[in-house]
Amino acid sequence: MYNDILLFNCTIAHALINCHKNTLTEEEAVRLLEPIPGRDYRYIISENYQNIYYTAAENEIIDIAVQNIQNLPLNQQACAYYVLFQSCMIKRPFNLFHRNNLNLRTNFTSAKFGNKVTWEQSFKDLFVKFTRELNEFQPDEDCNYTISNQSALNCQLRADLVYIDTPYFSKANKGTITYHNRYHFLEGLMHYGDIIPAINFNKVNREINIGCNREFEQRGTYLDELESLIRIHQDSIIALSYTTEGYPDVETIRNIIARYKPNTQVYSLGKHSFALNRHNAERCEVLILGR
Ligand SMILES: C[S@@+](CC[C@H](N)C(=O)[O-])C[C@H]1O[C@@H](n2cnc3c(N)ncnc32)[C@H](O)[C@@H]1O
Repeated sequence: MYNDILLFNCTIAHALINCHKNTLTEEEAVRLLEPIPGRDYRYIISENYQNIYYTAAENEIIDIAVQNIQNLPLNQQACAYYVLFQSCMIKRPFNLFHRNNLNLRTNFTSAKFGNKVTWEQSFKDLFVKFTRELNEFQPDEDCNYTISNQSALNCQLRADLVYIDTPYFSKANKGTITYHNRYHFLEGLMHYGDIIPAINFNKVNREINIGCNREFEQRGTYLDELESLIRIHQDSIIALSYTTEGYPDVETIRNIIARYKPNTQVYSLGKHSFALNRHNAERCEVLILGR
């Protein structure tokens, strides 16, 4: 079972765990980039996101690909969204959508800088690459794992073991960027026809207000929300991913789980810095296990 509040993540999960290999072939994926003759297309991204995240030619490809994907059967749709989302993310500086920094990409001229090469790969090449990767990873047969698109505190699913990986706050950076700020554009693409009334034109990155949520996203309420979540699943084994650079610290999180699970231990999974972020060099990933 999988649960996430953002539909685009649930769609990625569906493609990865429920769809069999070659649900979408490389040829089928590449065809999604071309308009179907005789069909009328809308150009919502082209018309509302000039010079924000992608070039004009790329915006047009995104408009066409999304509308072609909407016509596919459900499992193929999930695979195609997966491929589109990976391609959209890899073309973005820092893989995110919280800033309108297309210029960082287009003004960067050094051919030696690896990201420049990645950013400028064509959607066609990226679609081939990510479809191939997906087909290598997927199971041989379709599966029917439950995918749920709920706030974690409303999710009714129960399991023997519950793996929790909430958003993190950084100890060092007091910013308030939420998951929604970072990935709103992909959530918007899942709701293509609803994008225009949801665009926040007061924000320079034209954030799309679909799927916003404050739960687990505010320092002041995080611990209470985490405790509520642990309480809901107190009869299950709890496995929670965390980081030594997170706020609150690992010991505080461990103590909350220990209130409900007498045998609670922290396992270090070693250093795990984020790419492009040297300040995180000492960051260790931990797994807190409550039994
Ligand atoms: C640190 S990420 C988890 C990443 C995931 N474990 C993986 O490896 O891809 C946190 C996830 O929590 C989701 N999320 C944020 N608030 C949530 C909420 N209230 N209920 C359910 N999911 C939420 C975000 O959409 C995001 O996918």
